[in-house]
Amino acid sequence: MIDLRSDTVTRPTPAMYEAMVKAPLGDDVYGDDLTVNELEALAAEVMGKEAALFVCSGTMGNQLAIMTHTSPGQEIITALDSHVIQHEAGAHARLSGVSAMIVDTQGGTLTPEDVYRAVRTPDLHHPVTRLVCLENALGNGEVVSLEQMTATAQAAHQAGLMVHLDGARIFNAAAALGVDVKALVKDADSVMFCLSKGLCAPVGSMLCGSREFIDRARKNRKILGGGLRQAGVLAACGLISIQQMTTRLHEDHENARALAEALSVNDKVSIDMDSLHINMVWAGIPSVVQDDAAFVAYMKEHGVLINGQMGGLYRFVTHHDVSRADVRKAADIILEYLS
Ligand SMILES: Cc1ncc(COP(=O)(O)O)c(C=O)c1O
Repeated sequence: MIDLRSDTVTRPTPAMYEAMVKAPLGDDVYGDDLTVNELEALAAEVMGKEAALFVCSGTMGNQLAIMTHTSPGQEIITALDSHVIQHEAGAHARLSGVSAMIVDTQGGTLTPEDVYRAVRTPDLHHPVTRLVCLENALGNGEVVSLEQMTATAQAAHQAGLMVHLDGARIFNAAAALGVDVKALVKDADSVMFCLSKGLCAPVGSMLCGSREFIDRARKNRKILGGGLRQAGVLAACGLISIQQMTTRLHEDHENARALAEALSVNDKVSIDMDSLHINMVWAGIPSVVQDDAAFVAYMKEHGVLINGQMGGLYRFVTHHDVSRADVRKAADIILEYLS
């Protein structure tokens, strides 16, 4: 099957399977799993932060960041379309007891003006704003420029707020912008990035920040039941994710562009090439939306897995397990269906 549903479907590489078998292990709650320790040191180094924590998922990393930066009753500022708001089941309210000032950024990122408008003034009636949650790349696959990131983070700091960056696909963003990932995260007080997704590890994300912040996040991870034992079997894959898989993401971006270009020859398909920044192609195919289930089923019968339409668009995601030949084949099958 050619699986274009998401980059979360990537399987561990052969090198990862081998590394899992050979990884020196320990008990990470005692702090002596050598492979986890090595992964945390490497993650901190590549992000230019003092320390890092291995966590079960991107969601856990984001929620630990919120829990560690805030106290119950405080407020966070974040975009309406952010993962924290749309896909984390309201966990910020439930686990950290904070409210969210949700800004409708029309699919884009928070600007300094958004932050100035959203921050609460000292008033008997208001909660205390504490944290701004940013995202890069955005969930829609668009990348936020370094200048924009810096401007918003600096505005937050000027307003006395902390900044957490959901960098689930931060290496895709860095590859698309042609900048070092350190530069992209330098103004964030904490950053989460995923080892799974495009980097192919089976499980895990990293939360990075100051030593003091990570020490408190480690305690909070324990509270959430996320203290792991011989987690080195997973961390071994994460090391390969950082060392080997970050440098090939441009191939996924090129394959996404090749797919978009192949589909665009048909005037039943509309793709906004200007918003195609990483490995996600959003295609408007109005003639099939009506019969969405039939289209998805046809694709599956022909060996291609896709998700159903979202807001009238189809999202096709390229990744390590999808080659250039695969995207050509997938495009041919879509075009055949349209004809
Ligand atoms: C932008 C963003 N943040 C966070 C996450 C959460 O990652 P996980 O699925 O590992 O919880 C995702 C997952 O797709 C994501 O796209």
